[in-house]
Amino acid sequence: MINGTTRERGGAMQTQDNYWKRKTTFYKFGLLVTFVGLFLSPDAQALMTGNCADCHTMHNSQDGQPMNFDSSAIPNDNLTRGSCLGCHAQAGSSAIEIIGTSRLPQVYHTGGTDLAAGNFAYITGFKGGGASDRKGHNIGPLTGTDAVLYAPPGGIGQAFHDNGYIVNTDNLTCAGTNGCHGYRFAGDASKEGIRGAHHKNLDGKMDIADEPANSYRFLFGVMGYENVDWEENASASVHNEYLALTAPVALGCSGGSVLSCHSATNGIEPPDGTMSQYCASCHGNFHTLETSTSDGIGAVAASPFIRHPTDLALPSSGEYAAYTNYDVGSPIGRTTGVPDASSAVVTPGSDAVMCLSCHVSHASDYPSMLRWDYSTMIADGGVGGTGCFVCHTTKD
Ligand code: HEC
Ligand code: HEC
Ligand code: HEC
Ligand code: HEC
Ligand code: HEC
Repeated sequence: MINGTTRERGGAMQTQDNYWKRKTTFYKFGLLVTFVGLFLSPDAQALMTGNCADCHTMHNSQDGQPMNFDSSAIPNDNLTRGSCLGCHAQAGSSAIEIIGTSRLPQVYHTGGTDLAAGNFAYITGFKGGGASDRKGHNIGPLTGTDAVLYAPPGGIGQAFHDNGYIVNTDNLTCAGTNGCHGYRFAGDASKEGIRGAHHKNLDGKMDIADEPANSYRFLFGVMGYENVDWEENASASVHNEYLALTAPVALGCSGGSVLSCHSATNGIEPPDGTMSQYCASCHGNFHTLETSTSDGIGAVAASPFIRHPTDLALPSSGEYAAYTNYDVGSPIGRTTGVPDASSAVVTPGSDAVMCLSCHVSHASDYPSMLRWDYSTMIADGGVGGTGCFVCHTTKD
């Protein structure tokens, strides 16, 4: 099945061209916001603040010239002065830029610290140890499409989810149909995109998740606790919190005893609001309990598994019992609901392994967008404390 997800295709030249064009426009915008930023001291804030003209242009024209940050004459949806990438991927040197009086989180930059989801700049080599499509989710207009992976590996074995007919590297985008943020596609009647989320954005405990604005990071249906600076200054006690289950459930499109990722009216969402189910909406076979069409992690949520489990509570005995201090390098999810605040305490028996225990969600400097260098995880190598060893404490 994995073979069906790969393809023979180049595209490197095109990627480089796009990248250099983009880089120069980003530098211009970067200078602009850095200049504005000198006069401000941003406080923690959740909503959009400031003058409309900081972010919007009514006609994309002033003195006959475009008002878009990148000087493009093509106007953007919702009259913003940039696209998602124009605002969030400026290729500057900071993880957070300033726009008017608002803080603008960056997903493509050379700053020393990456925000929680990582940094798409590792894919192009703009930051880190060299370009590689394996380092993250390729977003075509930003990084070029993935030259090897076409479909998401581990797509659920149902209704063309495992061969790229639905989502693939050519159409994977930031938000909306085939995107990750905002409402995602479920048919012509369903809501699309992110419109309205920014001005209604809530912060902190996100346990309602019935629209993008009150979902974790505008990921419709996902619940969690949002760290106020997107983990720019994360520590064991100050960090995002993720929702998880004590045991994974059977997921699918519909039918039988599976829980569906298709909501009645609002498109795709994780049925229980967990981060791992969210990833499973595209990589379902790496997460689900066995169904009639997908073998998943196995038939029951107990060892032996056939794939590494997620949304599964750490056993309170054995090697797992020693993971008691939260490690932002191998985080866990909470199974007792979304907490009111982040905590440095890990409770085996309750807290669970999830996709983001090992992966970041945008890109990292390591293959398979892992949080750490897998090639340094040596059994009986005498060096523990990171990566797999945070949970598998006796294998070092
Ligand atoms: C810091 C940036 C920023 C500022 C300042 C800002 N906006 Fe927006 N606004 C956005 C973005 C980004 C969107 C599009 C994405 C979305 O809707 O989530 C948007 C969308 C909108 C929308 C359509 C969606 C909705 O929420 O109704 C309206 C209307 C709007 N803005 C009006 C305004 C007005 C009026 C002002 C000034 C009083 C203003 N905005 C100031 C960033 C900003
Ligand atoms: C005009 C600039 C602008 C545009 C265009 C824009 N954003 Fe934003 N976005 C912002 C600002 C400013 C914030 C920070 C809000 C805050 O402080 O929580 C933000 C925050 C976010 C967040 C974090 C929300 C949270 O809960 O912390 C996400 C996710 C996001 N934007 C996604 C997008 C996507 C996807 C698009 C394109 C559909 C987009 N943005 C377009 C300015 C913009
Ligand atoms: C909207 C669909 C979608 C969602 C949601 C999604 N992915 Fe993916 N993922 C893809 C596609 C398409 C690819 C293949 C293209 C690529 O790698 O750029 C992919 C590739 C990957 C890869 C391999 C990267 C590489 O190039 O080797 C990993 C790892 C991954 N995803 C993990 C995750 C995790 C973890 C989450 C949840 C935080 C997630 N994905 C959510 C669509 C998705
Ligand atoms: C956040 C904690 C966590 C991290 C990090 C983690 N694991 Fe696991 N791992 C678990 C849990 C929980 C189980 C299932 C334990 C059980 O119920 O038997 C498990 C089980 C396993 C199993 C046995 C599966 C079976 O059939 O019993 C292997 C092998 C494994 N992990 C390898 C790894 C490797 C390799 C890494 C690093 C790439 C890793 N794990 C990282 C928590 C973790
Ligand atoms: C215990 C750590 C761990 C957890 C938890 C984990 N992964 Fe992975 N993932 C890896 C490693 C290591 C690889 C590299 C390939 C391998 O070892 O199978 C990988 C590879 C991948 C790939 C790329 C496969 C390819 O063909 O290139 C995808 C996609 C992926 N993971 C998605 C997920 C999703 C979705 C989840 C949650 C449902 C998840 N992973 C949970 C460690 C993990």
